Amino acid sequence: MDYNTIKIEPKQAENILFELYGIKGSASSLPGYVDFNFRIKIGNEEGYILKISRPDENKKYLEYQQQLLQFIEKSDENLIAPKAIKDKNNDLISEIIDDFGKTRCVRLLTWVSGKVWSSVNPQLEDFRFSLGEQCGVLTKALQGFDHPEAHYYFDWDVAQSLWTKEHLHLFESYEKEILINFQNKFEASHSSYSKLRKSIVHNDPNDNNIIVTQDLLHPKAKAAIDYGDAMHTQIINDLAILCAYGVMGHHDSLNASLALVKGYHSTFPLQEKELNHLYTSIAMRLVISVTKSAINKIKEPKNEYLLISEQPAWEVLKKWYQISPEFALFSFRNACGFKAHPNEQKFNDWASNKSFQLSELFPTIQKNEVSHIDLSVSSKWIGHEKEFNDLELFQFKIDQLQKTIPNKIIAGGYLEPRAVYTSTEYDRVGNSGKESRSIHLGIDFWLAHQTPVHTIFDGKVVIAVNDEGDKEYGGLVVLEHQTDELSFYTLYGHLTVESATKNKVDDILKKGSLIGLLGNYPENGNWAPHLHFQVMLSLFEYKVDYPGVAYVSEIDVWKSVCPDPNLLFQLKSLQFKNKSNHDELINYRKNHLGKSLSLQYDVPIEMVRGAGAYLMDSFGRKYLDTVNNVAHIGHENYEVVKAGQEQMALINTNSRYLHENINTLAKELIETLPPQLNVLHFVNSGSEANELAIRMVKAYNGERDIIASEVGYHGNTNMCIDISSYKFDGKGGQGAPEHTHIFPLPDAFRGKYRGDNTAEDYAKEVEKQIEIIQNKGRKVGGFIIEPIISCGGQIELPNGFLNKTYQLVREAGGICISDEVQTGCGRMGKTFWGFQLHDVIPDIVTIGKPLGNGHPIAAVACTQEVANRFANGMEYFNTFGGNPVSCAIATEVIKTVKREKLQENALHVGEFLKAELKELSIEFPIIGDVRGQGLFLGIELVDEDLNPLEAQTNYLANRMKDHGILMSTDGPDNNVLKIKPPMIFSKENAEELIVYLRKIFAEDFMKNF
Ligand SMILES: Cc1ncc(COP(=O)(O)O)c(C=O)c1O
Repeated sequence: MDYNTIKIEPKQAENILFELYGIKGSASSLPGYVDFNFRIKIGNEEGYILKISRPDENKKYLEYQQQLLQFIEKSDENLIAPKAIKDKNNDLISEIIDDFGKTRCVRLLTWVSGKVWSSVNPQLEDFRFSLGEQCGVLTKALQGFDHPEAHYYFDWDVAQSLWTKEHLHLFESYEKEILINFQNKFEASHSSYSKLRKSIVHNDPNDNNIIVTQDLLHPKAKAAIDYGDAMHTQIINDLAILCAYGVMGHHDSLNASLALVKGYHSTFPLQEKELNHLYTSIAMRLVISVTKSAINKIKEPKNEYLLISEQPAWEVLKKWYQISPEFALFSFRNACGFKAHPNEQKFNDWASNKSFQLSELFPTIQKNEVSHIDLSVSSKWIGHEKEFNDLELFQFKIDQLQKTIPNKIIAGGYLEPRAVYTSTEYDRVGNSGKESRSIHLGIDFWLAHQTPVHTIFDGKVVIAVNDEGDKEYGGLVVLEHQTDELSFYTLYGHLTVESATKNKVDDILKKGSLIGLLGNYPENGNWAPHLHFQVMLSLFEYKVDYPGVAYVSEIDVWKSVCPDPNLLFQLKSLQFKNKSNHDELINYRKNHLGKSLSLQYDVPIEMVRGAGAYLMDSFGRKYLDTVNNVAHIGHENYEVVKAGQEQMALINTNSRYLHENINTLAKELIETLPPQLNVLHFVNSGSEANELAIRMVKAYNGERDIIASEVGYHGNTNMCIDISSYKFDGKGGQGAPEHTHIFPLPDAFRGKYRGDNTAEDYAKEVEKQIEIIQNKGRKVGGFIIEPIISCGGQIELPNGFLNKTYQLVREAGGICISDEVQTGCGRMGKTFWGFQLHDVIPDIVTIGKPLGNGHPIAAVACTQEVANRFANGMEYFNTFGGNPVSCAIATEVIKTVKREKLQENALHVGEFLKAELKELSIEFPIIGDVRGQGLFLGIELVDEDLNPLEAQTNYLANRMKDHGILMSTDGPDNNVLKIKPPMIFSKENAEELIVYLRKIFAEDFMKNF
C-alpha cells in the first residue's frame, strides 16, 4: 500500500472533526502504527485524540475497541483512561469516504494530559514501581471483559512469537545466536506457558503509551493510552512488554525490571508459575520487536516510527542474554515477596533437623567451637587496608589470636560487608553509579595450610578446578548433594590446587571423605590460608567459579540462594547479627547530641572507613569524595596513620617539654612560607587559630575593630562568630557586632560589582569601612579574609584587590590576616598558600583543616614583630597545641605534599577539571559560573536572570550521592556546588565526576525551572 495515498493531513483531520462532531479545534499529527492519529487542541481544554483508520479497516475490531474503553470507564478501579466520544449521530464509530473513494472509520477519544513515559528522566525506582502499579490496575480492570475480536492472530502477541523463527536469515551470526537461544527457550517452555492465566490485556504498554504526571521530582504513571493492540492472551505478557521497555536505557536491566514487577504485583498479584515465564516472555517481546524492525526496514523505509525502538531493543536483548534466567526468576520472586529461591524453606527445614560437627569438616583439628572474627569493613581488627593486604602480617595476627583461644576455630563472615573486595576489580557500573561486590556469602574458617577438609555428607563432584588469579579461589571444589526433597551444593575454596584437582567431575565422595587440603598463598588465590565454605541451592551456569561475595543490591536474592552455612552447625557464636542500625544511630543522636549539629544528605550515610579519595559506608559501598579538604592527602593515608600510631605509643604531652616533633613541624612549615612569616604557634582547630590571630591583633596595635568580608566564615568560637558574617548575618544570627565591619562579598559574578575589573570598586568598599571606624574616633585593628572565600561560594578575590586593601589597612594602622584554613598547603595548585596568588605577604596566616589530614591540629604563622608584641608577659599555654602526636602527624602531611608533588597534582587535575566544567557549562546553561584554583573549585547554578537555584543545587548534590559521589553546596544562596577533594584526586576521578554530573544535569528537574 502506498503510504502517501492513505496519509491524512492535519487540515483534513480538522474538517473531518468539524463535520462529524461539530467540534472546532486545531489538529497536529501524532505517530501511529495503524491509525492516523491527531491531537486536537481547543484553547485551554484538555482536548481530544482523533483516530482515522486505514482504508477498509475491520469495523468489528473498532467496535471491540470502543466497548473495551467503555468497560474500563465503568470499572470499579480507580483508573484514568481515554473516553470514547459519540458523533453527531450518537455513534461511537463514524465513517467517511476518503479522496480515493475508500471507507475510513473515525473515532474521537478524550485526551489524557501529562507527558509520555519516554520523556521522563530519570526513571527512578519509585517511578518504575508506579508504571507497574498502573499496568496491574489496568489488567485488573479488564478482568471479566471479553469480545470475539480480542481473539485473533497478532504478530506482536508474545504467545504467538515463534513466527520470528522464519526470519532468522535477516540477522548476523551473534544476533542470530541470541534470537535462537530465546526462541528455543520459549518453545521448550511452551506447554506450561500455554496453561497460564489469560484475559484481555492492553498488550502494548510501551514508553509512548503511558502518560505520566508532570511532577518533576516524583513523576507517577497516570494512564495507559492507545488500546489498539489489546487482545486476549497470557496475562504475564502485559508485564513482559512493560518490562521490555522499562529496562531500556538502564545499565542493569534485571535490576531495572524489578520495581516494575513489584509495582504490578502490588495491584495485580502474580502467580509463582507466571513468574517462571517472565524472563523469556520479556525476551520474546524484544525478539518480535527486532524482527519486525528488520522486516519493516525493507518494506516501509520511510516510516520512522517503525524503527524507533530497534536499537534500544537490541541493547537490552544483548544484556538480557547475559543474565542467568534462573537468577532473573529468583529476583522476580523476591520482588513479589515469595522466597527468592523456591527451595529456601525446604533447605532450612532439612538443615534444622540435622546437627553436624566441625570436627567432621576438619577431622584433624578436633575442635567443635568457634571464635567469631569480625572482618567487616568497619572492623578495627583488620585495620588499615595496607595491613590487611599484607598477608604475612595478617597471618601473624591470626596466629597470635589463635594462641589466646587454643580450643576454638577462628571463623565468621556470612553476610559480612568486606573491605577486602572493594578494590576496583570487584566493581561494576549499576543503575546508580559504581557498585562493589562486598557482601560475603560463605563462612571462612581460618586454619593452617595443609589442613584436610572432609565432606560432612555424601556428594558428587561438580566443580574441581584451579580458579587462578589474585583474590580468586585457587583450588576450588563444589559438591552436589541430594536429599529426599531437594538437591543443594557445598563449596570449598582456597584449597591447594593439587588436592582440589585430584577430584574429578562426577566423582562420588562418601560422607567423611577427603575433599582437599587448605592452600597457602599465592596458589589459594593469594589469601592467608583459610577455607571458604558456602552452601548453594543453585549452581546457575557456573562451571569454574562461583560468586563468594555479592553486590549489596542483589543480596536479598543471594542470601536465599546461599543460605547461612551455620544452619548445618548451629554454632551460637556465628549467629548473624546486624551490626549497625541507622535508625538507632539517628535517634540516639537526636536525643543526646546537640540539636544544632546537622546531618548531610536527605538520607544520611554511615561512613566507617576511608581510603584515599574514597569513603566507605557500612555496606562497603565506596563514595568518591569531592568535598573533603580535611583529608588533604587522602583518607587514612598510611604514612600519616603510622606516624600518629607510632608517636602515640611513645609519648604525648604538652609543649612545655623539649621535643623535636614540634620543631620539625615548624621547620617544615616555615620552609613553605615567605621569610617574614617565621614564627609559629600550634593550636587545635581553625577556630582556635583565628581566635589567637585576633588576640595577636589586639596585642599588636591595641585596637579591636576588625574588617571582614560579607559571608565570610572564620570559626565557631565567640570571637570567630563575631567576625563571621556567614553566621551573624545568617539563621539565628543577630547582625554585626559594634567592632566588626563588613564590606560586600567581592563576587564578580553576582556581587555588588560585576565583571572583570572590580578590584578597585571592592577595595573602595573596604576603604569605606576604614573611614567608618575612623569616624567613630577609633583605629583599624585588623583585616581578615580568605584568598578564596569558601562559605561565600568559592569566591575568587578580584586581581589586585588584596594588594590594594592590604595597603589601605596598613596605612590605617591595621594588620592583615590571611585565613588559609581551607585554602592552604598546596591546594591552590599554582602556589602553596592562597595569599601567594595575589602577591601579598600577610602579617598573620592561620592554618587549619588540611594540616592534620583529619587529626585536630592547626597553626598560626606570624612575623617576629607580631609575635614579640603578643609575648607581653602573659604565658600562652595550650594543653594540646603542638603535642608530639599531632606534630608527628602534621609533619608527615606536609612532607607527603612535598614528596608526592601533590601541589602539582592539584594544579594539573584542577585545571583539567575546571576546563571540563567549563565545557559542561556550555552544554548546560544552568551552570552560570565556573571558578576557583587548583583543587578548590565551585560551580554556581542560576537561571537566565542570574537568580540562584538552590533547590536544583541541592537536588544535584543528593543525586550525585545516589551515584556514589559526595558533593556539597555552599554560598549565601546555597546555589554553589563546591569541589575540594583530597589532593590525590586523579584525572580518572575527575573524569568519573564529570560523567555523572553530565548525567544528572540532563535530568528533568535540572532542566525545567
Ligand atoms: C575559612 C575557615 N576558617 C576557619 C574555620 C574554622 O575551623 P575549625 O572548624 O577547624 O575550627 C573554618 C571551618 O570551616 C573555615 O572554613
